[in-house]
Amino acid sequence: MRSYSLIAPAKINLYLEIIGDRPDGYHELAMILQSISLADQIDVRSISVDTIRVHCKHPQVPTDKSNLAYRAAELMTTQFPEAFSKYGGVEITIKKHIPVAAGLAGGSTNAAAVLVGIDLLWKLGLTQSELEELGATLGSDVPFCIAGGTAIATSRGEQLSALPSLDHIYIVLAKYRSLEVSTAWAYKTYREQFGNSYIRDTESLTARASAVHSGEIVKAILDKDSTKIAQKMHNDLERVVLPAYPQVLQLREVFATQEGVLGTMMSGSGPTVFALVESEQQAQAVKLHLQEAISDENLELFVTRMTTHGIHVASSV
Ligand code: C5P
Repeated sequence: MRSYSLIAPAKINLYLEIIGDRPDGYHELAMILQSISLADQIDVRSISVDTIRVHCKHPQVPTDKSNLAYRAAELMTTQFPEAFSKYGGVEITIKKHIPVAAGLAGGSTNAAAVLVGIDLLWKLGLTQSELEELGATLGSDVPFCIAGGTAIATSRGEQLSALPSLDHIYIVLAKYRSLEVSTAWAYKTYREQFGNSYIRDTESLTARASAVHSGEIVKAILDKDSTKIAQKMHNDLERVVLPAYPQVLQLREVFATQEGVLGTMMSGSGPTVFALVESEQQAQAVKLHLQEAISDENLELFVTRMTTHGIHVASSV
């Protein structure tokens, strides 16, 4: 095969707890990540010139080294130089559907798709954990995006334990087109404001384990209890993002008053806010009501659902 077309789903955070700090400047996390069916399409193709090319028509997506998908391809060329010289360069085409810089792991899932696509193109036969290990060097969310589904993510977010997958809950996503929140800013501000209350890197594993409060939502997921899952959602980063971004707070508040919404939360460091809803019909109704309640042409709304899929092949030639 000389070319693969891959589907790269976005993710939401059903749970994000900041446990403590780390000497590398990152934060120790306990998260529950969930793949959603809103996805980009990533085509990877071997080309005869020894180079990496990225194409994307979306105006906010760079095609140089600042694109994580480019860096994923570059990583493969340095990790597997023999395959690179045997198969030649790689051309990557990104068809963007996931909002950019939205807290939905759009860039991370594109990078994950490039790792999986090049593994296939170059017939490397890497295992999931080998792909995840490569992914972790690119970004904290990349390893999750490879297998996707529903998972507990700890450490920087790259240590994964799979949970039984959910796919019966619908989701409405809301985001203001012009609004961006820097992830680094959100974590830094959280550390400045709340850092004195959390666990230090030097403290014991027992102390760290007892700081995690995700037990109830994990139980709700095991029971596939949508109402309980929605009630037990949590995101520590809301503590810094909601006061600083009134538009995100407003989405959160308007969602909470909608009939049929089981629960609402900001995803990652935002600015996307999502609502869990029982059926597609209800999700469409919530979308419509939100459009009417906030009539702003910069508001983007999507109806999607939870999915069990991570990166998967749509077609190959
Ligand atoms: O790993 P990634 O590049 O996606 O992270 C983006 C930024 O988010 C990091 O530069 C860091 O500031 C912050 N971050 C963190 N702790 C984590 C994950 C991310 O502080 N566990």
